[in-house]
Order: sequence, then C-alpha cells, then structure tokens
Amino acid sequence: MSAPKQILVTHALPYANGPLHIGHLLGYIQTDVWVRAARMTGHTVHFIAADDAHGTPIMLAAEKAGTTPETFIEGIQAGHERDFRDFGIVHDCYYTTHSPENRELAELVYTRLREGGHIARRSIRQLYDPARRMFLPDRYVKGTCPKCGTPDQYGDNCEHCGATYSPTDLVDPRSVLSGATPELRDSEHYFFRLGDFTGLLKDWIGGGSTEGRPVMHPAVSAKLGEWLDADEGLRDWDISRDAPYFGFPIPDAPGKFFYVWLDAPIGYLASFKHYCASPAGAAAGLSAESFWRFMDAPASANPQSPIPNPGSTEMHHFLGKDIVNFHGLFWPAMLQGAGLRLPTALHVNGYLTVNGEKMSKSRGTFVMARTYLDAGLDADWLRYYFSTMLTAAPVDLDLDLKAFEERVNSHLVGKWVNLASRSAGFVHKFFDGRLAAELPESERAAYTSAAERLSACAALYDACDYAGAMRRIMEVADAANAYVAAKAPWLLAKDEGRRGELHVACTLALNYFRLLSIWLEPVVPGIAARAKAFLQDDWQRFAAAAEPALGTAIAPFSALTTRIDPKTLDAMIEASKDSLKPTPAAEATPSLFVAPSASTGSEASPPNAMGERQPASPNPQSPTTNPGLISIDDFAKLDLRIGTVTACEFVEGSDKLLRFELDAGELGTRQIFSGIRAAYAEPGKLVGRRVVFIANLAPRKMRFGVSEGMILSAGSGGADLFLLDVDEGAQAGMPVK
Ligand code: 2FM
Ligand code: ZN
Repeated sequence: MSAPKQILVTHALPYANGPLHIGHLLGYIQTDVWVRAARMTGHTVHFIAADDAHGTPIMLAAEKAGTTPETFIEGIQAGHERDFRDFGIVHDCYYTTHSPENRELAELVYTRLREGGHIARRSIRQLYDPARRMFLPDRYVKGTCPKCGTPDQYGDNCEHCGATYSPTDLVDPRSVLSGATPELRDSEHYFFRLGDFTGLLKDWIGGGSTEGRPVMHPAVSAKLGEWLDADEGLRDWDISRDAPYFGFPIPDAPGKFFYVWLDAPIGYLASFKHYCASPAGAAAGLSAESFWRFMDAPASANPQSPIPNPGSTEMHHFLGKDIVNFHGLFWPAMLQGAGLRLPTALHVNGYLTVNGEKMSKSRGTFVMARTYLDAGLDADWLRYYFSTMLTAAPVDLDLDLKAFEERVNSHLVGKWVNLASRSAGFVHKFFDGRLAAELPESERAAYTSAAERLSACAALYDACDYAGAMRRIMEVADAANAYVAAKAPWLLAKDEGRRGELHVACTLALNYFRLLSIWLEPVVPGIAARAKAFLQDDWQRFAAAAEPALGTAIAPFSALTTRIDPKTLDAMIEASKDSLKPTPAAEATPSLFVAPSASTGSEASPPNAMGERQPASPNPQSPTTNPGLISIDDFAKLDLRIGTVTACEFVEGSDKLLRFELDAGELGTRQIFSGIRAAYAEPGKLVGRRVVFIANLAPRKMRFGVSEGMILSAGSGGADLFLLDVDEGAQAGMPVK
C-alpha cells in the first residue's frame, strides 16, 4: 500500500427541501464505500458532509409550510440523517451550510477574491414579481414560447419545441408564485471573474495529482475542456441574489446575498472546520487550516501560477455529473483565488434509472430512501447491487429490479453466505465450534492464492472500480464453492473415519467466507458486521486477509442475510406510487421536471453557458411527468436514422442554436437546427461525428432557415446536453430501431 494518508472526503450536499431518494443514494453509497475501503487500506479518512440549506426554493418551501427557513431545514436534515444512518453511510461530521463557520468562510473567500480583483459589479435586467416583491428565477416565470407559440412554458426553455431562451423573451409572462405579470427591473449584481483562472483550470484539469492519480475521469475533463476552450472564454459568474433570499448577506452590499452555489462547496470546508473543533476532531489533533493549507495571501497570488503542491493531505469530492461545472470550474477557481488548496480528485457518477427508464411516480419507480427500507429491503443489498455496476466513469446506471433480486440472491446468499451456512453446523457438531489449528499444504496454498488474487481489490476500490472488485470477489467465491462441492462435507460427515478431512474442508470453506467478508465489508458493512460476530473476529484492515484464521472459535450460525422476497419489491413499488402526494415543500414550488435520476437533486442545472444565472430547479423531488405508455406502433411512427455531420456552425443571431448539415445516406442531405450550442462550444469538432436524428419530423421554418428533423441528445438542457454515440459500423442513413 502507499504511505498512509490524511484524506478529507465529501459527497454532494443534498438540498434541505425534501427527503432522499434512491437516485441520491447512488453517489452517497459510492462515497461511503470508498471511505470504508480507504480506511481498511490504512488511510485516515475524514468523511464530511452537510445539508445544502440556502436558496429560493427552500425559502419558499418554508413559507408554504408556515415556518421559518431555519426550522424548516432542521426538520429536513433530521430526516436526511436518519436515512444516511440506515443506509450505513456514516459521516464523521454531518452539518449544515447554514452555519456560523460557513458564513465566516464564505465571507473570507469572497473578501479574498475581491481583494484579488476577481469580483466585478454590474447591473442586470431581470423579471420582478410586483406582488411578491421579489426577482424571479427563470423557473418561476411561465408564458408563451417565443419560438413556437405554445402557452404555459417555463422561463428558460420550451417543452414543446425544445427552444431555449431567457425569461424576458417569453410572450405574456406571468409569475408562477403570484400569477402577476412580472416587470423588468434593473439590479446590481456581483460577479466572479472566472476567466481570470482559465490557465490555472486548464493546468489543473489536465494534470495528474497525487501519485499519478488523474484529477478526474477523462470524460469529465473533456466536458470541462469544452467550456474552457470556448472561443468566448469563461463568462463571469453571477454570485449574488437580491433580497428576499435565504442565504448569507454579502459584506458591504446591503440587500444582496450570496447565491446558494457560492457557499455550498465552501460548506465542505466549514463542516470540516466544525468537525475539527468537535471533541472527536480535537482528540484526533485536527486543525482545519493546516489541513487545507492556506497558500499565499490572495493579493499577491497569481491566479495563473502553477498548481500548489497539495502536501501530505488529500481532498476528494464525490458528485453527480449534473454539477461538474460547479466542482470542476467555479470551485477550484474560488479556492485558488482565496489562497486555499485545490481538490485532489473529483469522482463523478452518472444518473440512476429504474428498469431502464427515468424514475417515475406513475410507474412507482421514484423510490424514496425510506420507502425502500420500509418495504423490508436491506440497505446492504442496494449497496452491493450499485457496487457491481459502479466504475470511475460518469455513466448512467440502471436499477433493474429483476437483476437486483437475482444478483443479491445468487451472489450474496448463494455464493458468499452459503459458504458459512453449509460448514458452520459441522464445526459445532464435531469440532466443538473450533476451526482446525492448521491446514495441509495444498489447502494453505489455495487460500494464499485466493488472498493474493483479492489483494488487487484495494487498488480497484481506490480507483472507484467497484464493479471490477466485485467481479474478482465473486470469481474467488465461485472457486471456493467449487472446492466445497468437490469435498462434499455433508458426505464426509457420514464417515467417522474422515473427521480430519471434514475439519480441514470446513475450516478452509469458512476461511474463504472470511476472506470474502473482509473484501466485501466496504460494500456490505451490515452483513460484514454479522459475519465478524459469527467468526468472532474483529478485523479492521484488508491486511487481515493475508493469513487464514486457524484454531479460533466460531459462534453458532444464524442467517446473515436472506434472499430477496419479490413481494417486498412489489410493496416498494406500490408504496412509491402513494408516497409522492405533494408535500408542503413540493407544493411550494412549481412542479417542474428535474432530471429525477440525478444523484443529487439540483437547485440549479448546469450553466446555459458558463456562469450566467442558473435556472432554478426548485423541486428536486418532482418525478417525471408520466409520458403515458405507447404501443410499438406509436414508436414505429418515428423514423430514427443515423446521420453523419458534414457541417456544423454557429447561427448568427441565435445564442442557442447550432446549424447542422447531415449526410443522411439514402435520404440525402439534411439541414437541422439544434438548440445545443451551450453544450458544444466548438461546433467544427462535431464534423465527421455520427448522430441519431428524427427523419420524419415535419420540416419547420425558422428565422434562420428550414429545419428538417431533430437531432437527439441526452440531458436536461443548456450545457447539460450530450449527443448520442453510435458504435463503429453504423452507416449514414441506417434506420434506428
Ligand atoms: O445539486 C445539488 O443537490 C446541490 N445541493 C449540491 C451541492 S454540492 C456542494 F457544492 F455543496
Ligand atoms: Zn416552443
């Protein structure tokens, strides 16, 4: 193992406006597994998180609930903490961003940025609700789409034609909060000059960090690189909001508050600071400042200067792919500008789908963390299932309920726990509950070879390749089961003359079980704790697996886990259909659709270009609207085709659109306008790429020309859009079915 390290680990902070759902859990479980594995490797890990307590949606939810934001967020946080505990996600400190430490640090960071010349002020024009006397985030305005005329569309994009625009473009706008017609008003805003840090960010994103570990997965750096390399450069980021707002006041700026995304990541440091001052932190001799290393005073710090040596400590952030811009651009720039250390690594996970589709209330697949537990399902089962799929790549994962049931039953019960249940009885019946004191050479060698094979799992855990680790562990489990099947202890037990052989077979089987338990512990800590009690062992480190347990006593066997009863899954789905009656928090906000499968509900989707105001997504718990079931005939109406991009360019007069020319094979050439400009800053780079498009959409005449189809992309809009990839071999014009 590498030398023991001091590591600060965080996961994305959930908004304090609703309960956790299983989409959230994907990222939190990924983080907890990593923390446990790092500890079992021998590192000292401080696992820190908090509720993300600020912003307009939380302020309005509290108002709707008839309480203060402070009281409201306390209640939500208590629920989050229960869910974390019951899913085995154990923080050293779980705090809130609405804390004195966070206010102090947010002010410190801001002041240092200002002293460094990285804060600009200018007036912007926004829609204002005269009845509620507040400026309206984009998602709190509705009106008629300026492009296609569809009524009742949100202020940032049209669900009918897909156009993206700003709320001031809406025809007949109205406030979602009061119904009043908004007025245009000017207000001075504060901006963080992100462009000052372009060079630093490029170096940081491209460079390796400690011990050659990449700072992030190449897919993530590629996405950030698109923003960094955009011709227009990184735009200033609006970090202020006008009163009324639930957040921290900006120093020397009456009536102005820090935007929630300014103080949210600072909350990582504030929570750590809180922890350092707690009895546990003090006992560990922790000092926040020395841990995250203040660098030179910002006035003298050159933001383009080389990346500082992070020292002997590491800082790892786990997050969902919807918020990489905040963690990969804004956050490191803020840290550098404030003279603080940069993160060691970002670990990014994708979204969760259930049964191959977005989580959905009508299908009962928008499952709250609590609903899963209440149905009688074990948290470790979900932790294991997620781990069999998780890698370092920020790809979406599917909770296929049938596969979930089969994998848990076959792997955890069939291959792992059964090793113990089939051997333990004989050890008690014939050997006084004790393992053999030694193993013959061949058994010893078999154990050592299995232990060596699994020792590679430490590196797999460290690289977030849990899927690789689980595969390896199950291969060893297969070999262990093959050994037991060949030895057939149940037959040996019938022959009094073969007691020694029986003892050896059971001892090796139980040592295989112990070996697997040690390596599975980060993933299934609850079952592993029961395994420890059964084996009367108390390993703390992976290193304990190197030697078998010999001559030790074991406790009587009792079920460590059970098979999944499919009825519990049915109950969970049924309860999820009922569990989404609007909560006060949900009712308080517009019922927009926010990618429900995001690992964290997001108040703000990624920037439409870098740094402008974020469309608020006030209700992270909102399920997808039911698209209704369609028949195969309905689907067959769509003529989906492969097109090869032969030209792609900006559209003069539109800041949303790209103009594509596609080679569509037998269909000839197509011109398509697509609203993905914010996600693809260098259209020329798309030439040669194959895309999927709808070929039989009625042509649409636009101001810029006729659009002859629609190119498909994934994501929630703005910069969060991703063209689909096509495997080698697919030709232009091929139908997609
Ligand atoms: O997207 C979200 O759910 C945010 N609450 C995550 C914040 S992470 C950190 F920056 F605080
Ligand atoms: Zn429209």
